[in-house]
Amino acid sequence: MSTDASGLDISAIRAQFPIVERIAYFNTGTAGVSPLSVAAATWADMQAFELDGEHGWGAGCERMERGREALAALLSAQREEIALTRNATDGVNLVVEGVGWRDGDEALLSAEEHPSMLFPWTYLTQRRDAKLNRFDLGMTPEETLGNVRAALTPRTRLLATSHVSSVTGKRAPAKEIAALCRERGILTLFDGAQAVGQFPLDLGDIGGDFYTGNCHKWLLGPKGTGFLYVRRDSLDELTPTFVGAGTGHFSDEGGLEPLDTASRFEYGTRDFGRYGGVEAVIEWHHGLGMDREFVRMRHLTDYLRDRLCALDGITVHTPRSWEDSSAMTTFSVPGVSGVELFHELREDHAVKLRIVGEVDGNRISTAVFNTEEEIDRLISLLHPYAKTAN
Ligand SMILES: Cc1ncc(COP(=O)(O)O)c(C=O)c1O
Repeated sequence: MSTDASGLDISAIRAQFPIVERIAYFNTGTAGVSPLSVAAATWADMQAFELDGEHGWGAGCERMERGREALAALLSAQREEIALTRNATDGVNLVVEGVGWRDGDEALLSAEEHPSMLFPWTYLTQRRDAKLNRFDLGMTPEETLGNVRAALTPRTRLLATSHVSSVTGKRAPAKEIAALCRERGILTLFDGAQAVGQFPLDLGDIGGDFYTGNCHKWLLGPKGTGFLYVRRDSLDELTPTFVGAGTGHFSDEGGLEPLDTASRFEYGTRDFGRYGGVEAVIEWHHGLGMDREFVRMRHLTDYLRDRLCALDGITVHTPRSWEDSSAMTTFSVPGVSGVELFHELREDHAVKLRIVGEVDGNRISTAVFNTEEEIDRLISLLHPYAKTAN
């Protein structure tokens, strides 16, 4: 059983992740590993289609719809507000290209964005008369909100930010940001790639216009599955960039009439089985109890931070409090290359972190299947580095 208040049977959970026998895997923030039972269910769904061919199309679509339902329920969204995508980046691109951009409009981005956000927005400014402004994510919600207020201009059309930063693990005060923007008529896009599966999400309550995410990180679901949430009353703010079978139908006048749901952003043949796997992984989480998983992740994160912060010479870039952060902790050792540290830990000690170039450091993801023993091992490996820090 577990050593924390979650009551989870950690040995049974670890048996679902054979990777833990070979490596201390602290990189769920890049790629979540699916439990064996979920991977098997996903493959079975994919195989079902191969066995039945076009005959199985209807069943495949039903599986996909069940994946959508499960996802919508998990996110406290309506199923009509969920467009199924391949990844979080798809959602960013649909918003960047779909918002009717007017000359001189400005987008306000946080200073800690992943290329999935930065590249599409930068590319937009290369093709249109558009400007990007940035604001710093603070160590507290108040600081972040102050930075947002100071960075808004009369030309700000849309604010786009990670809900959880992939750089530092900071959690942005999404609800407060959405309210601030809404009262000024500014659209919001949240990138939840690092938020979905880390803590409870209620997208209706957050109140943003668009929220993109994936199922292949903290949700531990099939790779190549994601979603774009489009708030019902914001649907007409976005024009579909790609259209095709599934997007809508011909109107009486012969024009294309897009669906009146977020499915208008979907088109063409899909890998239906993968979305069946989305349902399977969400059921797996419910079987454990997601709240218990959150307790576990918070416990491991606190356990790690207590020890990491106690190491002399190590700089921790993540807020100490769980509410202002997530199960990702970024640190660096002044004078020690983050890349070298990463390689030594991976190649010599079978510990997998993720390099964070922005701070010349590394990020540690503490997922439900990690253990205190793995953290102790990591900390003991960091001792010599801490001593050499200058
Ligand atoms: C904040 C953030 N957004 C987006 C992505 C990219 O997600 P996807 O590959 O699903 O597009 C990542 C991946 O690390 C991320 O950390």
